[in-house]
Amino acid sequence: MEFEKQLKEYVNKVNAELERVFCEKDCRQRVVYDAMRYSITAGGKRLRPVLSLAVCDMLGGCMADALRFGVAVEHIHTYSLIHDDLPCMDNDDLRRGMPTCHKKFGEANALLAGDGLLTGAFEYLSDFSMYKSVSQGTVIRVISEIAKAAGCDGMIGGQVVDLACEGKSDVSEDVLNYLHHRKTGALIRVSAVVGALAAGANDEVVDAVGEFAQKLGLAFQIRDDILDCIGDEAVLGKPIGSDAENEKTTYVTLLGVEGAMKKADSITADAVKIVERFGEKSDFVKKLALYLLDRNN
Ligand code: IPE
Ligand code: IPE
Ligand code: MG
Ligand code: MG
Ligand code: MG
Repeated sequence: MEFEKQLKEYVNKVNAELERVFCEKDCRQRVVYDAMRYSITAGGKRLRPVLSLAVCDMLGGCMADALRFGVAVEHIHTYSLIHDDLPCMDNDDLRRGMPTCHKKFGEANALLAGDGLLTGAFEYLSDFSMYKSVSQGTVIRVISEIAKAAGCDGMIGGQVVDLACEGKSDVSEDVLNYLHHRKTGALIRVSAVVGALAAGANDEVVDAVGEFAQKLGLAFQIRDDILDCIGDEAVLGKPIGSDAENEKTTYVTLLGVEGAMKKADSITADAVKIVERFGEKSDFVKKLALYLLDRNN
C-alpha cells in the first residue's frame, strides 16, 4: 500500500481507539476527564502508536494488541506535553493548535489531567481481558518497559536535565544527546519495542527495532528544535521561539539550522540501515523515518 494511505490507516485506528477510551463522563470530577479528553483528542501526529502498529505489522503480529500498547504510550506522551507546557516548565500557551491544557482548565486541573493520563495508561494496559493474542507475561514485560521509558531514567530524567540546562552557555553535545535520548527518544524507542513484543519477537529483534527507534527519536527531536526556530506556528500548532525564550541549548544553538539538519539526516540514514535486515517488509518504517525528517508539524 502507498505510504500516505497506510499512515492514514494507522492514524485512524489510533484516533478511533482514543475516541472510544476518552468518552465524556458525567461525575463530580468530570473536569479532569474533560481536560484529559481535550488534550488527547486534540490531534497530534500519533507517531508513537503508529510506530507500534508499523513495527508489529512488519513482524507479522497481532495489530489489536499493538494498538493497545501504542495507545498507552500516547496517554503518557500527552501527559508529558501537558506538564511540559506548564508555567513552571516551558510556559507555553498553544499545543496541537489549541490553547494548552492549563490555559483552558487552569494549572491544578492540567497537573491532575497529566497525572490521570499517566496512571490511566497503566490501568488501561493491565486489563488482561482486552488482549487478543499476547500472554500475560508479555503484558507485564510491556508494562515494565513503558514504566522505565517514562520514568526517571527515561522521559522524566530527560526533562529534568533539560530544565537544569536552561540558561547555561556551556552545554555540550554529549549532554544534549543524553537529554534528547531520554526526554524524547525513550518513549519513541519503547513504542517500537512494544510493537515487536506484540508480534512475539525475540530479544535480538526487539533490540534492533529499539535501536532503530532510538535513532529516529533523536532525529525527531532535532527536527523539533529546528521547527522551534524556523517553523510556522499555524502549521506547527505550538509556539515558535519557545526554546530561545527559555534559553535552551538545542541542536540549532550548537550547530546552526543547516548543521542540525545534516545531523538529523545522518542519524536517520543510520536508523534506516538497522531495519534493512527486514527486507521489503521494512518499507513503511523506512519511509516513515524519511517523512519525519521533512515534517513541518
Ligand atoms: C512533541 O511531540 C514533543 C516532542 C517530543 C518533540 P510530537 O511532535 O510527537 O507531538 P504531537 O503528538 O504530534 O502533538
Ligand atoms: C519536550 O521537548 C519533550 C517532552 C517530554 C514533552 P520540547 O519541550 O521541545 O517539546 P515541545 O516543543 O514543547 O513540543
Ligand atoms: Mg520542554
Ligand atoms: Mg516544550
Ligand atoms: Mg520543542
